[in-house]
Amino acid sequence: EDEEEERLKQISVPVELKNCPPLGLESHRVEDDQLLASSQSHHGFAASRGRLNMQGSDNDDDMHGGAWCAESEERNHWFEVDSRREVEFTGVITQGRNSEKLEDFVSSYFVAFSNDSRDWTTLHDGYAEWLFYGNVDKDTPVLGQFSAPVVARYIRILPQSWNGSLCLRAEILACQLPSSYRSENEVNPSDDLDFRHHNYKEMRQMMKVINEECPNITRIYNVGKSSQGLKMYAMEISDNPGDHETGEPEFRYTAGLHGNEALGRELLLLLMQFLCKEYKDDNPRVRRLVDGVRIHLVPSLNPDAYELAYEMGSEMGNWALGHWTEEGYDIFQNFPDLNSILWGAEDRGWVPRIVPNHHIPLAENFLNGSLGTETRSIISWMERTPFVLGANLQAGEKLVAYPFDMQRPSISVSTGDMNEETWARIQRQNEGSLRETADDAMFRWLAMSYAHSHLTMTETYRGSCHGEDVTGGQGITNRASWDPVVGSMNDFSYLHTNCFELSVFLGCDKFPHESELPLEWENNRESLLSFIEQVHRGIKGVVRDVEGTPLPNATISVEGIRHDVKTAAGGDYWRLLNPGEFRVTAKADGYTPQTRLCMVGYDSGATSCSFTLARSNWDRIKQIMALHGKRPIRLVPKANVPKTTAASRPAAAPATTVDSHAAGQRAERLRRLRIMRLRRLRQQRLRAGLSTAPTTTTTTTTTTAATTTTAAATTTAAPTPIPETERTTSWYDSWFPEDGWVTENPFDSVAFDLVPTQDDPFEYTID
Ligand SMILES: *[C@@H]1O[C@H](CO)[C@@H](O)[C@H](O)[C@H]1NC(C)=O
Ligand SMILES: *[C@@H]1O[C@H](CO)[C@@H](O)[C@H](O)[C@H]1NC(C)=O
Ligand SMILES: *[C@@H]1O[C@H](CO)[C@@H](O)[C@H](O)[C@H]1NC(C)=O
Ligand SMILES: *[C@@H]1O[C@H](CO)[C@@H](O)[C@H](O)[C@H]1NC(C)=O
Ligand SMILES: *[C@@H]1O[C@H](CO)[C@@H](O)[C@H](O)[C@H]1NC(C)=O
Repeated sequence: EDEEEERLKQISVPVELKNCPPLGLESHRVEDDQLLASSQSHHGFAASRGRLNMQGSDNDDDMHGGAWCAESEERNHWFEVDSRREVEFTGVITQGRNSEKLEDFVSSYFVAFSNDSRDWTTLHDGYAEWLFYGNVDKDTPVLGQFSAPVVARYIRILPQSWNGSLCLRAEILACQLPSSYRSENEVNPSDDLDFRHHNYKEMRQMMKVINEECPNITRIYNVGKSSQGLKMYAMEISDNPGDHETGEPEFRYTAGLHGNEALGRELLLLLMQFLCKEYKDDNPRVRRLVDGVRIHLVPSLNPDAYELAYEMGSEMGNWALGHWTEEGYDIFQNFPDLNSILWGAEDRGWVPRIVPNHHIPLAENFLNGSLGTETRSIISWMERTPFVLGANLQAGEKLVAYPFDMQRPSISVSTGDMNEETWARIQRQNEGSLRETADDAMFRWLAMSYAHSHLTMTETYRGSCHGEDVTGGQGITNRASWDPVVGSMNDFSYLHTNCFELSVFLGCDKFPHESELPLEWENNRESLLSFIEQVHRGIKGVVRDVEGTPLPNATISVEGIRHDVKTAAGGDYWRLLNPGEFRVTAKADGYTPQTRLCMVGYDSGATSCSFTLARSNWDRIKQIMALHGKRPIRLVPKANVPKTTAASRPAAAPATTVDSHAAGQRAERLRRLRIMRLRRLRQQRLRAGLSTAPTTTTTTTTTTAATTTTAAATTTAAPTPIPETERTTSWYDSWFPEDGWVTENPFDSVAFDLVPTQDDPFEYTID
């Protein structure tokens, strides 16, 4: 019915002006050397900046202005586009300057054409030169349409009046002549797919058709509803749709977080069609993909805003229209900020014993915060599905950005109260390395696997869309070092779930013209497929108890990577890892941890690495301790072994004579007693702090104490005999495997007075 209506509407329009696609100023298909101008006000406002929706910096010293701007003293300004061959021009779209403060735009202009860039013909309306009315503000694009197509190679815009300074951004509409040779940019799509933009109704229809075509491998569901009640449809593609199969990883592509970034939506609709078609045609690669991965494709996470942008069409919306949700949120950066929780805890030395390095819980009242309707649905979807890998498709740049997306604030500590470890950590951070996740190498690989399979993402000669190329020609960047944001979907996904999520910025033009879709599909097809295949990189397995029952919520740690993952409901887990040899430990509440060596090779396919855990004695120990009123059980120390002390003493006190040796020992003992007293004081303070409000202790003193406690606690597994002091190490310490009590409640341990006071040379740096 909709289609019928559409057709009738088109028939009833009397004279249809010829509608040509954009030449590609916005998409950068038109290159910098095709743009020329009579003058420029400043080197940052050259003709190459005069592209529709170009984003500039307001800093006057910056090379990257928000428009082409003319030198004000000169007369007869023009902005010229060389289309490189004769084309049919049908219109011009103009826009003012992108600027926070200034209102610069061209309000009227003439248009002229040439075949050789020397003889120019100004467009007439039959009586006089045709004056086009231009912009009334700096952001809204305005179309000037010619009554008949004009054949020429060059076109000039001649501004006649303007507000503020003479600045403009533009797009040119033109059709290729049928006679002209085919441009290298035009593609004959190799796949027979539906290359159109689809609004909400059309998208739903398209998904329904795909589902009917491939009922055995597809299922439609929705992630939730937008604030206006539109559904966020998802297409699941898997050999067993509707079920999580044990051992099969789950993957997601999402698009349309910002409604005006429309290319991702269409690419996902194309990908659905492609997977369905190729599966039926027995394409072996697609079969492997669909049989081995549970793929979720969500073309539109912000359906309300897409409808807004779609109404305006691909060129006439401005840069921001349709970016936010109906309620005013930017979904991508509307997630709870868990980075601050993790980093705050890291600075206090609380990770992973008090605050975990993964699956950081949400604050109880997080729903009271300013979360959009769509964001809530997405969070709940992320929590209930054990995703392993995902990417959100955005636009406005052409690169892949990987987390962290938020910039870690640098700690300022006066050098006076800093031990060597703290100092080293701060140094590392100031070098920028703490913008990295613990899985930085893996994230770089994942980003690379998309960018380098893309046909044009690593083309360096076109530069970036708006400013410097931040990727060094690699097409990938760490988001925090490029354009940091707080509360991003990627950071949240990494810190709250098992899923590694990246952002793919598909191109400069957020809403490409329909005619660009076949080319963009060709550019992205291989990337879209090979990125899904990365879900098989690393290790996977199942954690079971000795009876063979799967253990959900068990923790999988990889030595050397401070980020764990958890097993899903079926006890299965996936850990993305680059090739190498890894010591992997599985832990679960009430079970003895197990460590295995797991190899990741260069071949495709995850290495299988499963665990069988035996019950631990922890429950029994807790009972015994409860009987003792939760007080530590003290042991009478055995004979002294002074040798240990001598060996661990700093070399600064060489024992040359017996006398000086004895004196040295005495001084040493006094020093140790003093340290011991200080430490006990600090621990008392720390314990007082912990039992009231652990996250609010911020003073430097407490921070140091927390570090001390943790450092001391690590040594409990291998106690060395300590002379001349009361030994408070408890007999049950030996029950704890190294790192073992991470799985138990750390607050209990503090309450039990487990904190040992034994000495080790490492702590001398405290004073
Ligand atoms: C350019 O050349 C074509 C023929 O190749 C001609 O039809 C057209 O009018 C010329 N345009 C101008 C502006 O001279
Ligand atoms: C025109 O520019 C002036 C400053 O040059 C600005 O104050 C004014 O708001 C602009 N006019 C419009 C309609 O924006
Ligand atoms: C779906 O699976 C059934 C049984 O395996 C098969 O007979 C049928 O042809 C399949 N349908 C499609 C559309 O592939
Ligand atoms: C959050 O909302 C719940 C009800 O939804 C309310 O009971 C609670 O007091 C609120 N918390 C805060 C901190 O506003
Ligand atoms: C999962 O394990 C953690 C400890 O590792 C525990 O705090 C949490 O409550 C467990 N969650 C569930 C759902 O069992």
